[in-house]
Amino acid sequence: MKVTGSIAEIRALSRQWHTEGERVGLVPTMGYLHEGHLSLVQRSRELADRTVVSIFVNPTQFGPGEDLDTYPRDLDRDLELCSSEQVDAVFIPSADTFYAPGHSTWVEETALSKGLCGGSRPRHFRGVTTVVTKLFNAVQPDLAVFGRKDAQQALVIQRMVRDLDIPVEIHLGDIIREADGVAMSSRNARLNEVERVRARALNHGLKAAGGLCESGERRAAVLLSAVEKALREADAEIDYVELVGLESLQPVSELTAPALLAVAVRIGATRLIDNCILRPRG
Ligand code: PAF
Repeated sequence: MKVTGSIAEIRALSRQWHTEGERVGLVPTMGYLHEGHLSLVQRSRELADRTVVSIFVNPTQFGPGEDLDTYPRDLDRDLELCSSEQVDAVFIPSADTFYAPGHSTWVEETALSKGLCGGSRPRHFRGVTTVVTKLFNAVQPDLAVFGRKDAQQALVIQRMVRDLDIPVEIHLGDIIREADGVAMSSRNARLNEVERVRARALNHGLKAAGGLCESGERRAAVLLSAVEKALREADAEIDYVELVGLESLQPVSELTAPALLAVAVRIGATRLIDNCILRPRG
């Protein structure tokens, strides 16, 4: 497994693979890998001949006062996991080399990025789209795999790729959950024991709304208040609970077509997100 922080080196490797007629898949990550990431790696290995994992805690997607400095990191463990998943190369740029001094060019999606996480993290998606573009330029993959837990991010990246004619197929992997239903996230490592139990409320809330939906409820207000109730009982600080159109990410008041039920909360100092798709019955 090749491990490199050099853009020239990863690009040369990708070019060599392409010359040999091989398809290259990229799994972009910020490290501290878990089963969710590994499922994306497995997906890439099914779809492509070669898989590159990038590990880069991207400073430009963190706002002032957010958890850039405390974001969990364990490179040795990440490399062991990548190696055991038969990853072909790991790209680990350093922040100094990846963002040249005076970096002043941004890639910005301006519609889908505005609501949900974009409401409380105004520069977040600009950082994500910029770094993903840079990763695509460095690795030159044929395809990239992202997780559905970051549903808004996935949609923003799909829109960016479409709008800018970027020749990379985007594939999405399902949310992977712990045995108790908590969605896997690198940030779960920052929860203490009590907070970890409280974090179950996200999935409980989504399931409560899912149950109502199953029994025929279509009013967004009722579905949302079921989620909010579960979150309040766990003393989670709600950032948003929203039911939005799958493509538009605009709020819907009635479930007349499949819609995304998305949640973001703070539990202690840790921000967690989760989501599910609700489908109207009948
Ligand atoms: O989802 C993530 O881990 C990050 O937002 C990504 C896509 C690797 C960009 O930094």
